[in-house]
Amino acid sequence: MSHSMKHPEKYKPSVHFVKKAVFPSLSQYQSMHRESLRSPDKFWGRIGKGELAWFTQPKKTLDWKSPFAKWFVGGKLNVSFNCIDRHLEGGKRHKAAILFEGEPGDVRVLTYQQLHDEVCRFANALKGEGVKKGDRVMIYLPMVPEAAIAMLACARIGAVHSVVFGGFSSESLKDRIQDCGAKLVITADGGYRRGQVGGLKQNVDAAVAVCPGVRRVIVLKRTGHLEKLNPIDRWWHELVAHQPSTCPPEKMDSEDPLFILYTSGSTGKPKGILHTTAGYLLGAHLTTKWVFDLKETDLFWCTADVGWVTGHSYTVYGALSNGTTTLMYEGVPNQPEPDRFWQIIEKHRVNIFYTAPTAIRSFIRWGDHWVKKHDLSSLRLLGSVGEPINPEAWRWYHQVIGGGRCPIVDTWWQTETGSHLITTLPGVHATKPGSAGLPFFGVDMAVVDDQGKEVKAGVQGKLVVRKPWPSMLRTIHGDSERYAKTYWSDVPNCYFTGDGAKKDADGYFWISGRIDDVLNVSGHRLGTAEVESALVTHPAVAEAAVVGRPDDLKGQAVVAFVTLKAGHKSGSELVAALRERVSKEIGPIAKPDQIRFAEALPKTRSGKIMRRLLKEVAAGGAVKGDVTTLEDLNVIASLQASSGEES
Ligand code: WTA
Repeated sequence: MSHSMKHPEKYKPSVHFVKKAVFPSLSQYQSMHRESLRSPDKFWGRIGKGELAWFTQPKKTLDWKSPFAKWFVGGKLNVSFNCIDRHLEGGKRHKAAILFEGEPGDVRVLTYQQLHDEVCRFANALKGEGVKKGDRVMIYLPMVPEAAIAMLACARIGAVHSVVFGGFSSESLKDRIQDCGAKLVITADGGYRRGQVGGLKQNVDAAVAVCPGVRRVIVLKRTGHLEKLNPIDRWWHELVAHQPSTCPPEKMDSEDPLFILYTSGSTGKPKGILHTTAGYLLGAHLTTKWVFDLKETDLFWCTADVGWVTGHSYTVYGALSNGTTTLMYEGVPNQPEPDRFWQIIEKHRVNIFYTAPTAIRSFIRWGDHWVKKHDLSSLRLLGSVGEPINPEAWRWYHQVIGGGRCPIVDTWWQTETGSHLITTLPGVHATKPGSAGLPFFGVDMAVVDDQGKEVKAGVQGKLVVRKPWPSMLRTIHGDSERYAKTYWSDVPNCYFTGDGAKKDADGYFWISGRIDDVLNVSGHRLGTAEVESALVTHPAVAEAAVVGRPDDLKGQAVVAFVTLKAGHKSGSELVAALRERVSKEIGPIAKPDQIRFAEALPKTRSGKIMRRLLKEVAAGGAVKGDVTTLEDLNVIASLQASSGEES
């Protein structure tokens, strides 16, 4: 995660010229950007009106009672109408909306008309199951078109979806169902991943068994690996069979909730990040259009699963709102061989490719020859997201994948921000490998010290946003106090991102990564507290402390320090059991890479675990810095001697 900081960047910045870019000149961009900061109301009012299709125009652009924002007050619109219906008349009726490739190689194309019909049928089916405006619906599906169809069907009838990534365990699913009070769960009989059929249904069964609020489970037939349904289940295809292919879109208020997406924080269980209708859609729409410099004929491929925010904002909402063709791929990049992505790009002639640095670092490791086998000349623009991209990976991406001709947009944002907040714009800004770039329109970004004072160029500090923006989260579902405390109390009058950064003399932001107790493992957010809670559910564990360790491939690896209750013995068996426990409680993505058994954990005299110290031990370095508040100095020696067991 700190690669970019370790190697000061000498690469000469360059502006990539893009034929007929959205912004014909830097000066046009600059005057718009100035306006967006000086008169945000006027700027967003105009852009919102022009870019979205409204049933009723908003009366007021922003109502800000810190830290609660209402955008486009009084406006009425529908997200599924914006993503589908408005393209039907505009000559895109028969254009491909979704191009899907399954891991086994099956390809499916849905035109905008077909997408409309499928969404309407499924929306009618949901209504038939008693789902009403404001009800919460859980989506736990593989990366198949039905995931997008289910999301859009919820949006059409005003239900609030909450998508859970298929890699999360039944425990995690259960927690989320209970937290958001979902009535209905949508899942599949499995999906194809790594050449195997992955089970989702068993996880749903286990979760639903302890969630009496769930009244129906809808099951998509994807693999045919399910014999019998439970009484609560219905097949997707049977439910939609006789449904009409039209369904009037519900007239939603700008501030009606669109979705809840759970993400890890530094304390407690994952938080349900709530996004609403107009502001979110505008952010996703506009950044897709401008950051990816969209053209009418583009095939856009964002590799993120819809279970993450990137899948929400770019694979689904941003792409479809712009009437683009979005590519969805079900499986992993190395199935059957490590050139699957390049095969897909060549076969379908993908123009825009958006992926994560952790994937790029894997491609580098697998070797250039996998790339060289394919004609990637259709690519025009590349994107990176999820973690800082180290300059070496940036250059490889630029040269080997982009053939030296494709601009790279390194987009910094979060589940909470809804859409990109820092990026360069193709044709406008020079790119600097390792820097995400400059704040997007209307984004008042700063690097500050602990007192909230802006620091000088080149100085490391906390990354904050000083003004509300349209696609910001509105609250944490069911806990506005936690929302205010988590995001708006650390730095006075600012939204604190949890990231550290510095700004250079040209105004470019260099993100160093999380500075709170959140890890970024292969671009996935994990709370150290969550992993610790999972570990202490094991009867042998007395205490656990989890920290990140820099990792060349994953960005960060998970290291757990564990003390045992009397009478329990450390060893590889226990390590395996503990890793399994975390997998069961959270999901395989959270499994610790290393578990170290310690005599005691380093604590301050007031009993707080000293994580800084553990991070130093985990990274293998000497313990530096101040240890005078440490209660028992002998602990350090015992930690360094602690037996590490690598996965
Ligand atoms: C990190 C993913 C550096 C950051 C969209 C942030 C990045 C967290 C970048 C949010 C980037 C995301 N450069 N770091 N381009 N993009 N991050 O909520 O630490 O899963 O706080 O959203 O990922 O992760 P989340």
